Amino acid sequence: MLKDTPILLGLTGGIAIYKSAELTRLLRREGAEVYCVMTRNSRRFVQPLLFEALSQNRVALDEGEVAHPFDHIRLSEKARVFVVAPATANLLGKLASGVADNLLTTMLTYALGRRAPILLAPAMNANMYKSPAVQENLRRLKKWGIHLVGPASGELACGDEGPGRMSEPEEILDRIKGLVHGLDLAGRKILVTAGPTREPLDPIRVLSNRSSGKMGYELARVAARRGARVTLVSGPTQLAAPPGINLVRIETAEELKKKTEELYPQTNVLIMAAAVADFRPRRFHSQKQKKTEMKSADNLLELSSTPDILKEISKYPRRGRVLIGFAAESENTIPNAKAKLQAKNLDLIVANDVSRPESGFEVSTNQVCLISADEKIEELPLLPKEEVAEKILDRVVKILETRRRPKP
Ligand code: CTP
Repeated sequence: MLKDTPILLGLTGGIAIYKSAELTRLLRREGAEVYCVMTRNSRRFVQPLLFEALSQNRVALDEGEVAHPFDHIRLSEKARVFVVAPATANLLGKLASGVADNLLTTMLTYALGRRAPILLAPAMNANMYKSPAVQENLRRLKKWGIHLVGPASGELACGDEGPGRMSEPEEILDRIKGLVHGLDLAGRKILVTAGPTREPLDPIRVLSNRSSGKMGYELARVAARRGARVTLVSGPTQLAAPPGINLVRIETAEELKKKTEELYPQTNVLIMAAAVADFRPRRFHSQKQKKTEMKSADNLLELSSTPDILKEISKYPRRGRVLIGFAAESENTIPNAKAKLQAKNLDLIVANDVSRPESGFEVSTNQVCLISADEKIEELPLLPKEEVAEKILDRVVKILETRRRPKP
């Protein structure tokens, strides 16, 4: 995703620097060219050799200490994103007041002047973070267009609890990708549904399906990093909430319907990736059903239909909103998906043959066809779900461009 993309990684003297080693590895795995710049204090925590080995590039150090082969101005110019992780209170203070007393702050000041994308991942003790000086500096840096990721709240290296933990490497990587690919969904409100629903029979047993939620979670994550304000309504899954999104958990199709209907009026785009159970047990038993009772012929499982949420919502006033559905099929994928596209009056349907082992449920890859309202078909190759999400969202951007900006 970041193939041959030059990324500058500034490292300052914070204990969270150990996470930056992982960030460097993740960036390299995505194909990025990583150039690290270390301050003198950062080298009290780790040797440059670690970052040299991970980045496969010479590490730039303060002038006068070790000769480095970089023309730092050229390097600043080349970088698509300038990340500083960890960014200590000291670094924030220097940058906010225009101090350029070492190589890193010099390069940052230069990058700020030419409005290059800068991303800071603050990391410090909670009380330092709450100090008026740091808060004022952060406000100032934000006003200047600098992007911030985190800090998160939680247990800190010093033993205190509170805000100040550097964001996890995966979250920083996501934000870098967002800055490289552009924030083309900024200002858009996107509602994604994901995962299976669970329809209870009694307190122990449920009727459900094999959806893992991975496709919907990737859509939510990628939409957020492209600048959208995302709400993810999710059935039960094993997945961690993607950073920076509003996660709402539901269990049954009825709960999903209620939440989706409640949130729909405030959204610009609805992507219905949830695998909604089409049936639920007709009766819910408040006590566990004994197997002897269940075996008797007159006590066979009776089912009733759940509401077709997307179909219902497609009848609401559209007002420029984009409606996207999925079609999980095991045969006749394209004709079945086209029928759903028409029946649910969608702008796009993502047709998915779930009988293939590398596609559909539980796996991290997917091979889908995108069918637009005029029934034009685009067949995508087998891709990681993250890239499928990018392609679907590219289509969302295109559809939104054709409409006047809706007032949600
Ligand atoms: N969907 C929905 N409510 C349902 C069932 C499905 O909103 N009760 C949505 C899904 O989230 C998906 C689309 O409708 O975006 C198609 O879902 P799918 O399960 O493929 O098809 P169904 O309409 O349920 O039809 P069938 O089960 O006959 O294939």
